[in-house]
Amino acid sequence: MNIHDENLLLHAKYNVTAWFYDILDLPWELQYRKWRPALLGDVRGAVLEAGVGTGRNLKYYHHSVDLTGIDLSSAMLDKASKRGRSAHCNIDLVQEDATHMKTIPSDKFDWVIATFLCCVMPDEVQPLAIEQFERILKPGGRFRLLEMLYSRDPKIRRRQERVAPFVEKVYGARFDRKTKEYIENSADLKITNTYFLKEDVYLVIEGACGR
Ligand SMILES: C[S@@+](CC[C@H](N)C(=O)[O-])C[C@H]1O[C@@H](n2cnc3c(N)ncnc32)[C@H](O)[C@@H]1O
Repeated sequence: MNIHDENLLLHAKYNVTAWFYDILDLPWELQYRKWRPALLGDVRGAVLEAGVGTGRNLKYYHHSVDLTGIDLSSAMLDKASKRGRSAHCNIDLVQEDATHMKTIPSDKFDWVIATFLCCVMPDEVQPLAIEQFERILKPGGRFRLLEMLYSRDPKIRRRQERVAPFVEKVYGARFDRKTKEYIENSADLKITNTYFLKEDVYLVIEGACGR
């Protein structure tokens, strides 16, 4: 697998974090697991999930889905592979950097899904991943991303600022990524809808490939 230099640190981080990721993340996952069915319920066809992690989304895909799940970290993929056994759809897990996707064919996918990937990816490489999403989606193919942002509410923001150093150290995640702007500046991805799942923090970005 080719890894972008900017992602080497994340790669190393997640190979360690994988061992305790599910336990550490559980307090948040208790919230996320209420959202995942609705995020994935209408997804059909050939689907690329980028940053599949420990496979928290896998059991919510419709049985007809043909899923390719990619992740930087082989240790995260090992966990996903175990979780994938209770999924209903066909799953192929591949160790790949979303900013390269060398082994992933162009124009193949009906959907790209990513939950909490872009908040983790360094700003410098986000446009590269977005270019890859454009390349691998069929014309008219759709995408749905779930990310987290700093709130405009000072009380919530203060709370986020308190946990931000921990969140960045352990997950590489930040609340100030500019994913929506990168998509707006992309050549072919068009945003059709955005909405928050909780407060003005958990943002869903949906759209289609305009090619
Ligand atoms: C915060 S976890 C989210 C996992 C999962 N999507 C979820 O919702 O629970 C972020 C995942 O993205 C992966 N990741 C980070 N940068 C990546 C990249 N450039 N290409 C592929 N995976 C990446 C990490 O290894 C990690 O498994």
